[in-house]
Amino acid sequence: MSDRKLLVTSALPYANGPIHLGHLVEYIQTDIWTRFQKQQGNECYFVCADDTHGTPIMLKADAEGITPEELIALVQKQHLADFTDFGIIFDNYHSTHSQENKTLSALIYQRLKEAGFIDSAEISQAFDPVKNMFLPDRFIKGQCPKCKAPDQYGDSCEVCGATYSPTELINAVSVISGEKPIEKKSLHYFFKLTDFTDMLKQWTTAGHLQPEVTNKLSEWFEHGLQKWDISRDAPYFGFEIPDTPGKYFYVWLDAPIGYMASFKNLCDKANLDFDEFWGKDSNAELYHFIGKDIIYFHALFWPAMLSGAGFRTPTAIFAHGFLTVNGEKMSKSRGTFIKARTYLEHLNPEYLRYYFAAKLNAGVDDIDLSFDDFTQRVNSDLIGKVVNIASRCSGFIKKRFGGKLSSNCSEPELFKEFINANKKIASLYEQREFGKAMREIMALADRANQYIDEKKPWLIAKDENTGTELHEVCSMGINLFRILITYLKPVLPILSHNSEIFLNINDQAWPTELTMPLLDHTINPFKALMTRVEKEKIDAVIEASKEDLSKEQTEIKNFEPIAETIEFDDFAKIDLRIAKIIKAELVEDADKLLQLTVDIGDETRNIFAGIKSAYAPEDLEGRMTVVVANLRPRKMRFGVSESMVLATGPGGKDLWLLSPDSGAKAGMKVK
Ligand code: 2FM
Ligand code: ZN
Repeated sequence: MSDRKLLVTSALPYANGPIHLGHLVEYIQTDIWTRFQKQQGNECYFVCADDTHGTPIMLKADAEGITPEELIALVQKQHLADFTDFGIIFDNYHSTHSQENKTLSALIYQRLKEAGFIDSAEISQAFDPVKNMFLPDRFIKGQCPKCKAPDQYGDSCEVCGATYSPTELINAVSVISGEKPIEKKSLHYFFKLTDFTDMLKQWTTAGHLQPEVTNKLSEWFEHGLQKWDISRDAPYFGFEIPDTPGKYFYVWLDAPIGYMASFKNLCDKANLDFDEFWGKDSNAELYHFIGKDIIYFHALFWPAMLSGAGFRTPTAIFAHGFLTVNGEKMSKSRGTFIKARTYLEHLNPEYLRYYFAAKLNAGVDDIDLSFDDFTQRVNSDLIGKVVNIASRCSGFIKKRFGGKLSSNCSEPELFKEFINANKKIASLYEQREFGKAMREIMALADRANQYIDEKKPWLIAKDENTGTELHEVCSMGINLFRILITYLKPVLPILSHNSEIFLNINDQAWPTELTMPLLDHTINPFKALMTRVEKEKIDAVIEASKEDLSKEQTEIKNFEPIAETIEFDDFAKIDLRIAKIIKAELVEDADKLLQLTVDIGDETRNIFAGIKSAYAPEDLEGRMTVVVANLRPRKMRFGVSESMVLATGPGGKDLWLLSPDSGAKAGMKVK
């Protein structure tokens, strides 16, 4: 047993949405690393939590008609189920909305305040006069002041890339109420990050960060650090700042403290010493795995807060890049914005664990999931190379030798070659060079297959007098397989576990010079350990992800800003009538249209309506709906449309005609 003690975290996922493949890069990376550390015999804890505070979560709960507490409980369950099913095992999974986090956040804040690192100042911000709340930039939309693109957020334009303040947006509206925001003043609290400039310049160049991250930070130092606004006004879902009614900690203040809180919760359950890991003089190692988008919070605010409040700082921050799919940003319309659950419904989670491992390294470059490459790699490496060794050798061991391996290791040099790779592979895992580790392991798998190809057990088996040789060759193959799955154990825990059952052996520690081959040892019958990736399954994931989209679009559309105010007289000009659909027909050569004949009381009208994607003609005949009766008739390619039906929804299958309650009669005016 080594005496290394490690505490490892992944970034805390927000409690307002599902886990998707982009998130999984990080959780799988961290899980592989912590499983590796444990297999080495190190005392290692992997903790995480849901990140539960802030305006988006508060508003989402509101929109769903539930309390934020109900929402975060629901989401936490889903997150944990997704992680567990991907083989991501935490030593503790907690919530930032917890007593431990409340206590620790208050403690850190008090200590920073007592040491003079907290300031206050009045600032002016956008305020929604209907909802009576301050608006985060993302909740304000309007026209870009630079390129005039409509529908842009309050902080930056997705069309031209300009950044600006929400007050510069043209015709800005609150996304929540649709109302024009007003400017309002309020007292805010700040963490004086500037007081930590020297400490941070030193810390960020002392080997705690990847070189490319240190470089990025030096640019930020050149621009000068700013004090950090850590307070938000009510209404806000979070922790109220001690002795400061109506003011709450900004979600990003208590989020990283959530790492400590989750560990504190574990300490209380497992009787561990919190201070041994977080105390100023701790000898334990502390690592945070994060995405490159949140470096600022982890490499500047977090070490400054910790050191200002008298805690230890992290040993290292490990940032990774973003995930692209088939070479492009994940896209909802292409079906490549894939939720963990959607993937799990069709594909084996260990395919993805292996694929990510094969692509990951210690840098911050983006990684690409190409489904052709994914299929090819998994099928050729895991099925064609690794599992194949066991399936090639196990049949003879069972049929000819009663499931028992030979008592002689016929190729000790080859066995040794496999064992001797242990240090190199360990050092690659340790340095997070998983791609290189996978290449080393696959080179050994090639070596094992080459050995079997040379010996040709299927030919030896034809000669009744060569039993010993057949026994030794197949036993050798099985022994090599065992070392391979032990090296792959951090990446493929399920495959390795099932292989251990097949080999009739215990949970395997990391191989060392002392590891002996299995001799005279009975193994269990071989069962398929993994099946090939099938293209149809991948297609199904992509198709299902497109379906997810139509559901989501419905939600998003509900957030569409309300149109400009009109006068009552303008509204009164529109004559809406109840109509009965008496006939509905397909229109030849038209992809989207149905031809409707509707009864609006004294007359019938002919309407061409773009609702074919959602309705079959037979669904419509006889039903009541609402039409605009005084719309000027329009000549279309297929004939004249004499009115318009009213419908809602994002489109496609999700389109719904409006209909009145029973009792309404054709021709009645809608008022
Ligand atoms: O970016 C995010 O998804 C945040 N929820 C990460 C928080 S990590 C930590 F600081 F809590
Ligand atoms: Zn723009």
